[in-house]
Amino acid sequence: MTSNSQNIRRVGVVGSGLMGSGIAEVCARKGLETLVYDVSDAALEAGRSRITHSLTRALERGKLTAEDHATALAALAFTTDLADFADRDLVIEAAPEDESLKTNIFATLDQVVLRPDALFASNTSSIPIMKLGAATSRPEQVMGLHFFNPVPVLNLVELVPSLVTSDMAWERMRHFAAHVLGKHVIVSQDRAGFVVNSLLIPYLLAAIRMFESGFAVAPDIDEGMVRGCAHPMGPLALADHIGLDTTLAVAQSLYDEFKEPLYAPPPLLSRMVEAGHLGRKTGKGFYPYPPAAQ
Ligand SMILES: NC(=O)c1ccc[n+]([C@@H]2O[C@H](COP(=O)([O-])OP(=O)(O)OC[C@H]3O[C@@H](n4cnc5c(N)ncnc54)[C@H](O)[C@@H]3O)[C@@H](O)[C@H]2O)c1
Repeated sequence: MTSNSQNIRRVGVVGSGLMGSGIAEVCARKGLETLVYDVSDAALEAGRSRITHSLTRALERGKLTAEDHATALAALAFTTDLADFADRDLVIEAAPEDESLKTNIFATLDQVVLRPDALFASNTSSIPIMKLGAATSRPEQVMGLHFFNPVPVLNLVELVPSLVTSDMAWERMRHFAAHVLGKHVIVSQDRAGFVVNSLLIPYLLAAIRMFESGFAVAPDIDEGMVRGCAHPMGPLALADHIGLDTTLAVAQSLYDEFKEPLYAPPPLLSRMVEAGHLGRKTGKGFYPYPPAAQ
């Protein structure tokens, strides 16, 4: 399989939010030509500044040499035109967790990406990969590649083939994730939530229900898990970190798929999202965040 991922040199990343910017950063750090798309100049600028800030911090902390820092910056380019993805070998989609939005993106990618052997991946947390693949004329080249936040720090990816992903595409992607990006790869069947979110989301929802019912205050719920179970972060702080809109969307997809009450989003989570209290990224969730901490 030596040549499998060596022909992946040009990567496209769709969406430059929390995850897209992290995915673009790890690709650029490996010297891959990385083109980042977002819907507006403002969104793209926010993504660009998140990536450069993160690269500078890595340089200052000695986690990146000056040469690798320069290589990463030189490898990055930005666009608001998806047609610029024509020559990409691999496109990784990291747009908001919304099924119709993502299927539209995959249908468009199918039109604009000209390389017949290009691979398409989604960073979706919960939307069936088969639905995204079915929006293209090449579903055998589509799979899930689910990263974790912050992408440059957490070294896991979940690799999710759909029912029709080809062995060749799967193996190229596995080789790319493991040997080019250097991530630890676990494999999940194409079920909403995959391995990690199927286990994590019921836990986060249970903490939100506990807070909602007045059972305990937020810091005590979080400290309980940090000090009592040695978790690095409590569940409410973690939900703020993931984004409450993303947490809600993933819970909704899990509930739609399995119809299990443990996946049903608590009303407080829905109200907070409707209020725009999305956690760290908007400065307010279960806790307040000063701009510098977002
Ligand atoms: N937040 C997490 O911890 C986490 C972890 C793993 C996977 N994910 C998944 O990654 C994906 C992105 O999540 P995020 O946390 O980065 O969200 P985010 O809200 O931070 O970023 C989404 C980005 O997509 C852009 N966007 C909006 N409409 C678009 C469109 N039509 N086409 C392309 N881009 C568009 C937005 O401008 C924004 O920059 C979701 O599918 C989410 O489930 C999130």
